[in-house]
Amino acid sequence: MAVPRPTLADLKAAMTAFAQSIQTRELALAALAFVGFVVVSKYLLSLLTCIWRAFLSPASLPSIRRKHGSWAVVTGASDGIGLEYAIALRKRGFNVLLVSRTESKLKDAKEKLEALPNTKGSVDYIAIDFAKATDKDYDKLSAFGDKHMGDVALLVNNVGMSYPHAMFFHELDAETIASLINVNVVATTRVTHALLPAIMGRATDATKGGVVLNIGSGAATALPSDPLYSVYAGSKAYVQQWTRSMAVEYRAKKVTFQLQAPLYVATKMAKIRKATFTAPSARTFVESSLGRVGNPPIVTTPYWVHGVLWSILNTIPETAVDYARMSMCLSIRKRALKKKAEKEKEKK
Ligand SMILES: NC(=O)c1ccc[n+]([C@@H]2O[C@H](COP(=O)([O-])OP(=O)(O)OC[C@H]3O[C@@H](n4cnc5c(N)ncnc54)[C@H](OP(=O)(O)O)[C@@H]3O)[C@@H](O)[C@H]2O)c1
Repeated sequence: MAVPRPTLADLKAAMTAFAQSIQTRELALAALAFVGFVVVSKYLLSLLTCIWRAFLSPASLPSIRRKHGSWAVVTGASDGIGLEYAIALRKRGFNVLLVSRTESKLKDAKEKLEALPNTKGSVDYIAIDFAKATDKDYDKLSAFGDKHMGDVALLVNNVGMSYPHAMFFHELDAETIASLINVNVVATTRVTHALLPAIMGRATDATKGGVVLNIGSGAATALPSDPLYSVYAGSKAYVQQWTRSMAVEYRAKKVTFQLQAPLYVATKMAKIRKATFTAPSARTFVESSLGRVGNPPIVTTPYWVHGVLWSILNTIPETAVDYARMSMCLSIRKRALKKKAEKEKEKK
């Protein structure tokens, strides 16, 4: 059978279709390149912002002291991260109020602060067990606020407690659940409620306004879930969303709210004795924290290695992170139960 010969019109139509397909492909390529440019620019911008915030942005702590008053209040100040905040703030010229549970440890902390070379000003303490605090306890903080109205520049809501070890929710006793919520949620909220008037100050106070720094946790901020620590993670999630809301609510009243969320830090709570690159000492963490305090964003993790880990976690599918964390916590639980059983055996 003879193949029909293409006419001139057929050739023209084929050329036009070919030219159109090239144009469409070029357009598609250009669109793809544009999307790629936007995505890469976004990542570059966020990387540059991280570098700026971690290493280059000026610390606002000196201006907090200058503009907002002479007192800093630190909760959970007798140990770990809180004690390091108290020491660092004293060294930077603040009067410091230490708030914590054990009076003997508070006395020791006060002596330690007063003995620091080249420091002056007052150090005071109030002992409160936040697991069972009453209105009377919170009134003591209100009374402190009344006495130093307009001169409280910084409140560090650092107090927090975690589980004795990784546990399923049904294994927790009622007292531990109540303590976790009282210490992590109620104390943070009520300490702020007691001291906020003193931070806002009277309209006539030259130093009115200040900063409330809440210590959250990677358990709620960086991880999609924290199985076997669910009440701890949930309590920190409360602190995070409450901080965001308070930040907006009090912006016009010159009170800056910020949540800083550490990942692991070498303290008693984390049961980590030796600091590492990824689990820094409380002092290293606090130095990063004070370099960022009061600067945007509202929710941040101040130690740069934690920031990098957080970014990496963000790129991994949630189900994979959930699976890895569950496996890790199950093994923590197994080891803790083994240790407990050995101790009980020794006692017998
Ligand atoms: N370490 C970490 O890896 C890590 C990670 C993420 C977030 N965080 C957060 O960082 C904050 C500080 O933790 P940390 O590791 O420094 O803890 P820590 O070493 O266990 O110190 C806790 C401090 O809080 C006080 N405290 C505990 N229970 C209290 C209560 N019922 N009433 C009053 N004070 C109480 C302790 O007082 P006593 O000396 O009297 O016991 C101590 O001063 C917490 O909010 C924690 O959730 C820590």
